[in-house]
Amino acid sequence: METERVFRELYDLVRAEMEDGGAHDFDHVERVLRLAVRIAEEEGADVEVVRFAALLHDLERAREDRGEVECHATASAERAERLLLERGLSREFAARVAECIRSHRFRKGLHPESIEARVLSDADKLDATGAVGIARAYLFGGKYGQRVWEEEPKDVRFYPGMRGAEYSPRTEYELKLSRLRERMFTATGRRIAEHRSRFMELFFEELEKEVRGER
Ligand SMILES: [Fe+2]
Repeated sequence: METERVFRELYDLVRAEMEDGGAHDFDHVERVLRLAVRIAEEEGADVEVVRFAALLHDLERAREDRGEVECHATASAERAERLLLERGLSREFAARVAECIRSHRFRKGLHPESIEARVLSDADKLDATGAVGIARAYLFGGKYGQRVWEEEPKDVRFYPGMRGAEYSPRTEYELKLSRLRERMFTATGRRIAEHRSRFMELFFEELEKEVRGER
């Protein structure tokens, strides 16, 4: 099948490009891909559109980090559309994939409209929750010399980026991760978010008790 061949080709391209960046971003892409397909199936969304959108959604993130583009969602959407058209996929298909990618991040009032865009947005945010979300927050924290625990979570409005040593994943949890469940668009996403949120809640409760020597 032609579409499958294109998918395999782009899969290799995305993996090579993201691994070259030295980060583990491709692991995130693979997790989002698996989750997005599962949510798409349960929600009756177009699995093909969702699959391509998940694969290509963060392709230009490294360029945003380097300050070369303003928004990786917009840049990745444009590149994705080009990549699909160049490989002979239809204009309509390429446009639907690009729409998902463009709106997977809230910016300039852009909201995911189609069911496929909503699925991608949910899968992407879910990857910041649950056991994976905690693990990612600590990996990030380790990179920036953060602490295991801090007494008072800081108000994120005054500390954008949360990269410094004065923060901890607890701050990230209190201010951001614990609220992601409110930003789900699909019923399936909400159900998964509820499960993952309970796990995170339990983890940080346990962590606090251990830090205080109570457990
Ligand atoms: Fe992502």
